[in-house]
Amino acid sequence: MPMVLSGVALPTDTLQGRAARRGIMYGGAVSSHHLQDRACQAAVLHEMKILVPENEFKWEALRPSPTTYDFAKADALLHFARVHSKHIRGHCLAWHKQLPQWFGSVVHAGNASHMLTDHITTVVRRYAGQMHSWDVVNEQVETWEANVDGIRVTPWLTRLGYDYMDLAFHTAHAADPQAMLVYNDYALELNADWHAARRQRMLRLLQDFKSTGTPVHALGIQSHITPDGVFDPAIFTTFLDHVAAMGYAIIISEMDVVDKPFPADITRRDAMVADVYRRFWTTALAHPAVKIALTWGLTDKYTWLNTVDFARRADGLPVRSLPLDDQYHKKPAYDVLLNAFATAPMKT
Ligand code: XIL
Repeated sequence: MPMVLSGVALPTDTLQGRAARRGIMYGGAVSSHHLQDRACQAAVLHEMKILVPENEFKWEALRPSPTTYDFAKADALLHFARVHSKHIRGHCLAWHKQLPQWFGSVVHAGNASHMLTDHITTVVRRYAGQMHSWDVVNEQVETWEANVDGIRVTPWLTRLGYDYMDLAFHTAHAADPQAMLVYNDYALELNADWHAARRQRMLRLLQDFKSTGTPVHALGIQSHITPDGVFDPAIFTTFLDHVAAMGYAIIISEMDVVDKPFPADITRRDAMVADVYRRFWTTALAHPAVKIALTWGLTDKYTWLNTVDFARRADGLPVRSLPLDDQYHKKPAYDVLLNAFATAPMKT
């Protein structure tokens, strides 16, 4: 039964449709390459309202050389989104990973500020008015490996110091005053000591942004749910409360499940993954500040988790982390997510 929302008919039996009925926007990561697969494209168009280019807006993709930009793939995704009435999130403007090969030999303390602001101004201005939001700074909290007071020692930090984040957000805001600007980070969800330490540091960083008047509008919580700890709804809700109390919106920005400890048997494994989805999403969506819900992909066929060591299964089997399987069949995780949207409190 289709419903009408702002003049657009959305089927209610899709993830985006069920989410929209509760004032929630659902979507996730897509890549230009995977969208060439027609089945993948059809599933994305059917299920998602907001798209995040998985790699196309990263420095590595946009910057063939220190003085040039290659917008071909990014433009094509923007076009795709416009033609299909989808929103698009930019990801990401300052990160320590997927920097171009030339970065280390070209960018130094003397020109880093110019390199950062030139990049942000050029990219954000190009798409001004067309972006739902931008992940401006990604993954700067680090309490586990090398860090300075809980902040990761990144190429940007070593060249510019702690204040580079402030510079990045102000530059993005000047380039597109309408865009929602997001600080995005991971390992903030579980009941584990290092997640607790990261939550504390995250809150302090968000507090610093408030005191310096840095234009940060939302916290993106990646939510790659790993076996590093259990998910405790009360702990996560308390964290969301603290973030929201400072006035930030909250985006669940990259959710998926690392199924490494779960059995090979597909029925049992899918049930366990779905159970993680159920506990996580019912908690997250119950919070008034969470109105945007994203998974990092849609089908197991293309999950990034098959390419990273930390998610590799001992039995060598492909991971089953997303709502659709590699044949685009709906998994129990899909039904759970659909139901979590259907039963979420109405967002205001
Ligand atoms: C990942 C992509 O999914 C992969 O295709 C790529 O090889 C590496 O990056 N956190 C982030 C995302 O913020 O940019 C990462 O995306 C996943 C973890």
